[in-house]
Amino acid sequence: MALLRIQSDWYIYFWLLYCKIYSAIIWLFGNHCRGTDKARAVITSGIGGQSLGSLHRVRTRRKKTQQYHRTKHVVALARRPSYKRIVMAPGASTAHAMMEDKEKLLAPATIRSRRISQFAPLLIALVGLPARGKSQLAHRLARHLNWNGESTKVFDCSEYRRRHMALYGSHDIFRADNQQGSAIRRQSAHEAVQDAVIWLKDGNSVAIFDGTNITREQRRELSDYCLSDMGFRILFIECVCEDQELLERNIIEILHYSADYKDMSEEEAVDDLRKKLEHYMRQYEPIDAGLESIGFVRVENMGETVTAHKVAGQKESGILGYLSGMRGLPQTIYFTRHGESEYNVLGRIGGDAALSARGQLYARALADYFNAMATIDPVSVWTSELRRTKQTAADIHAVKRPVRALNELDAGICEGLTYEEMQERFPQEFAWRDQDKLRYRYPWGESYIDIMTRLRPVLSALEDEHNVVVVGHQAVLRCMLGYFLDAKLDELPYMNVPLHTIVKLTSYGYKYKVEMIKLPVECVDTYRQQPKVRAEQNCSINRSTAEALTTVPSHYDTLPSNLWQSPTEAQL
Ligand code: F6P
Repeated sequence: MALLRIQSDWYIYFWLLYCKIYSAIIWLFGNHCRGTDKARAVITSGIGGQSLGSLHRVRTRRKKTQQYHRTKHVVALARRPSYKRIVMAPGASTAHAMMEDKEKLLAPATIRSRRISQFAPLLIALVGLPARGKSQLAHRLARHLNWNGESTKVFDCSEYRRRHMALYGSHDIFRADNQQGSAIRRQSAHEAVQDAVIWLKDGNSVAIFDGTNITREQRRELSDYCLSDMGFRILFIECVCEDQELLERNIIEILHYSADYKDMSEEEAVDDLRKKLEHYMRQYEPIDAGLESIGFVRVENMGETVTAHKVAGQKESGILGYLSGMRGLPQTIYFTRHGESEYNVLGRIGGDAALSARGQLYARALADYFNAMATIDPVSVWTSELRRTKQTAADIHAVKRPVRALNELDAGICEGLTYEEMQERFPQEFAWRDQDKLRYRYPWGESYIDIMTRLRPVLSALEDEHNVVVVGHQAVLRCMLGYFLDAKLDELPYMNVPLHTIVKLTSYGYKYKVEMIKLPVECVDTYRQQPKVRAEQNCSINRSTAEALTTVPSHYDTLPSNLWQSPTEAQL
């Protein structure tokens, strides 16, 4: 029995020893695997995702390989204190401790910003020296955001400054040691921010504060005010320009368009602006991701390179996307409707009709116009996928690109009808359209809002182009021109874009100059005014047929065979 007890004890001792060794092995392996996974997770989230706090290069126009981008990501990650344990440089422990102290100091703001809802209003604050393209960026971004349904307004700090000074004196007010000048500038910035806050509190989506915000202190104050006091989101956009040619171009634009220089000779203005730049350069503290806990996008050379740091949120990601496609170079774009079509002659809408004889004459005249020009400055042509635009562009010596998104408004059940037939068959629909033409959607068809949505990618692409000829349709061109000319949305469906006319847009700063070039080929008028404009008319569904048709433009009842021979003799 004694022997048996000793034997069973041996089994127990052996079992306990086995368990110990086993758990030690598991513990060792477990720790090892956790460390590896953690490291892998860190690298993956930094490269692939848009993690809060990651510094990554979004896009660059210089030719760089994919590997370059990846290297950049990893370098940026190594700079984050929390990752130092994994990627620690030899002898970096002191620096690491300092970084961790700083991180603790900055932490409350970071945590606060994370708590603010994705749907909170957003204040965008521009940062940078004068002539770095800030105002151009601000206005282009505002146009883009408004078009995408985010009500946005630019608050230009220099306009507030001018309200405090009857006349601009000289660069002197920008000196750091000019106390009166500094007070005026501080006050102007304060007023601009207050108005931006009112705008956001009124339920609008985005305010863009177009100021210089060149010191760390200014940015910290603004950030704290926005996040803690207002509960708004904030994004800084820093504009940097190292390209001398671009800088000179920006300076010339400022001289031409800034109200500060309107009463100065060119020489005086150039001298003054350069001195103003020197004052600013002395005070400028570029954003430093290591010293400031703010989310920002840096735009270099008007969009050549775009980097982002701590950019999170739906709106901000969309803005980052827009900025990474923005170029801001001078551009000329031409728009024309197709030549008069057989449907235009008959007053019919939609369809895929061919050009009328006069429409063919316009196509020829258009080709002559652009072919003469293209020998000096080549053009490219975008058409819709419909016959009338392709036929109009056919003779232009250029690459042609049919774009489906440029097709005319789909009139659904009313395709191919005249306005008179619409009134006769669908009087209610006809009245509803007059009540709200922007939002009215044809049954089984589209509304103007629908066209605006499908045009978004085309407009973004067009912003980056020069010397493009867009051969389009009445409703589509209204939307496109409305975008570039910053028209009020409700006015879009009533813009007059006549047939046989080239609309030339030339950029200057963030605006566009419009020229209407009418080619001498006769055509019908397809423009129908809003009935409401005339006091005696109404848009109610009970209106009479005569009331509904008052503004319908005249057209032919049949396609006249002699239209091209003697247009004036044909009966309208
Ligand atoms: O009349 C020509 C046309 O391009 C139609 O095809 C289209 O439905 C119409 O213009 C759009 O204009 P509106 O919105 O004024 O009816």
